[in-house]
Amino acid sequence: MTIILAIESSCDDTAAAIVNDKGLILAEALYSQRDLHSLYGGVVPEVGSRAHIEQILSVVKSAFFKAKISPTQIDAVAATFAPGLIGPLLVGTKFAQGVALALNKPLIAVHHIEGHLMAGFLEKDFPDPPFIGLVVSGGHTALYLCTKEYEFQTLGETLDDAAGEAFDKVGRVLGLKYPAGQAIDNLAKEGVLGQFPLTMPMASQGGLNFSFSGLKTQCLRILQERMPLDQTALRNFCADFREIVAKTLVKKAIAASKLNNNLPLVLGGGVALNSRLRELLVAECQNEGIYCYLSNKSQCMDNAVMIAKAAHKKYALKKFAPICQEVFARLSIEDKHQLDY
Ligand code: KG4
Ligand code: ZN
Repeated sequence: MTIILAIESSCDDTAAAIVNDKGLILAEALYSQRDLHSLYGGVVPEVGSRAHIEQILSVVKSAFFKAKISPTQIDAVAATFAPGLIGPLLVGTKFAQGVALALNKPLIAVHHIEGHLMAGFLEKDFPDPPFIGLVVSGGHTALYLCTKEYEFQTLGETLDDAAGEAFDKVGRVLGLKYPAGQAIDNLAKEGVLGQFPLTMPMASQGGLNFSFSGLKTQCLRILQERMPLDQTALRNFCADFREIVAKTLVKKAIAASKLNNNLPLVLGGGVALNSRLRELLVAECQNEGIYCYLSNKSQCMDNAVMIAKAAHKKYALKKFAPICQEVFARLSIEDKHQLDY
């Protein structure tokens, strides 16, 4: 039995998880900085770094307390080493390096996107590779091909804003609290479609790439003319906005699978919580005969369980990191081997 302690601190969540090689989550602890950053309408990196420093010890201690094991019982220590905000990344990785050094355990350096893609790993309905992964979050929107060897290749990505960023920026104009994705999703559920004429960004061009900044500008223009919206108009606007984003993501994901012999699709990242996106992807995959795996709702937003899952795969392949492994604010998934010996 292999037990891994994993730490995630690449953005605004200080998270730790202890997970075994059967995928059993022995413990999870998370301190979210969301309320702290919502005062500024977005993540302030230096505020984030300080909050990570203040919280990391109690988050990790709390994970061990919940797991009812002692630190000496773990087999490896993993952390997110790239990509992300440099200060927050440094806090989690230095802490992980300290624990690994003190306990004389191997260190595993995980790529954050690999974590999102592997959030369902070790679960019985998670597909064996090859598969296509769609990661949609506040910082990323991209399609990946996962090869049989768990190597990842980018098939398409956003040329400007990420989908989550579009939700958050439009939400800000609507007067919603950061991050606004869930609030827009909730309002949309009560709205009627077809009241706001939004067009699909890069629907028929750009191959498997995405673009959300044009949609954001369209939304801002419409809202400038129509603000303040009454509650009904607000719900209708959210419904149209959510629909167009979900349709775009699903259309490109299905196209990626079809271009690759109908490979299974895996959906992850914070925006994967979107109820319309989940519903539409399942329906379209069913129509096309494509197997579809939606990450568990508790593992879509940034969390340490997904880092532990990716770390278990790396542990099995003996892909460890040097104890002095550096962090990278930007690192493409194709270059993730820079995180291994
Ligand atoms: O994966 P995540 O926690 O952080 C990044 O790695 O970026 O994703 C956070 C993003 C935010 O932009 C948030 O607004 C969005 O996920 N989000 C949603 C929903 N829940 C969270 N977007 C749309 N619909 C949702 N239900
Ligand atoms: Zn993320």
